[in-house]
Amino acid sequence: MIEVQHLSKSYRKKHILHQVSLEIEGIYGLLGPNGAGKTTLMKMLCGLTSIAGGQIVIDGHSVVRRNYADVSDRIGFLPQDFNVYPGLKVEEVLLHLALLQGITEMKQRQERVEEAVRRVNLQDNAQTRMSELSGGMRRRVGIAQLLLRKPEILVFDEPTAGLDIEERIRFRNLLRELGADHTIIVSSHLVEDIEFLCTKIGIIKNGCVRFEGTPAELKAQATGYLGQVDVTTAELTGWMQDERVVHLNEKGTSVASSVCI
Ligand SMILES: Nc1ncnc2c1ncn2[C@@H]1O[C@H](COP(=O)(O)OP(=O)(O)OP(=O)(O)O)[C@@H](O)[C@H]1O
Ligand SMILES: [Mg+2]
Repeated sequence: MIEVQHLSKSYRKKHILHQVSLEIEGIYGLLGPNGAGKTTLMKMLCGLTSIAGGQIVIDGHSVVRRNYADVSDRIGFLPQDFNVYPGLKVEEVLLHLALLQGITEMKQRQERVEEAVRRVNLQDNAQTRMSELSGGMRRRVGIAQLLLRKPEILVFDEPTAGLDIEERIRFRNLLRELGADHTIIVSSHLVEDIEFLCTKIGIIKNGCVRFEGTPAELKAQATGYLGQVDVTTAELTGWMQDERVVHLNEKGTSVASSVCI
């Protein structure tokens, strides 16, 4: 269990996070529009950004400015863009990163790399150069390098952004599998990514928590407040700027928008 307690952060007097409190467990979805503060919160969890106010408590260990070393081994972070060593083959990249992570014994390094490659289902691409991989495959290499160290908590920042629908579904399945033996925190601004994958959801907007609960609780709260309208493609621009639109779905020449009323 990860308790986020009253986290606050400002950049040049602008509030980025304001008194954010969350109870993170299972496969936890962090949902929010662009600029909501998702990446900032995840970076704080992983010790990449300092905590200005509040604290994070991981299984009873408080993570404040000074004692991050207590928990750093337990957390793995996949940033929004994972793109390293384009000229190297997948296996070479992972062996190298394993060495940098302190796995110095050759046999152990090879075993860990083999296991990680298998878990992310990249066996057929172990000898492919990074530059030749699709975006989704590159992200799977990013996950494999996290697994080398065997952290208990995995933090994924928008792992499905920019992926086509097939890769997206494959990715969701992989995250679900990893959820069996890891606590996972995954951010997205797409409701459908989170809805079918996560056991708990936190919604943040403008740095404040708007909701925390299960997908079923979120659905129950939305009942009576959600409707659907059909708009023409010409009308679409106006609707896309409307903050209440939560989902757009193209049907022939018209576009169906689900709108919070
Ligand atoms: N280093 C920084 N300096 C100044 N402002 C920053 C910095 N990092 C983030 N911000 C601001 O903090 C706010 C939250 O940013 P953050 O990247 O956490 O949002 P996000 O929810 O991850 O958005 P996105 O969905 O676009 O990834 C934004 O307004 C951003 O401009
Ligand atoms: Mg972000």
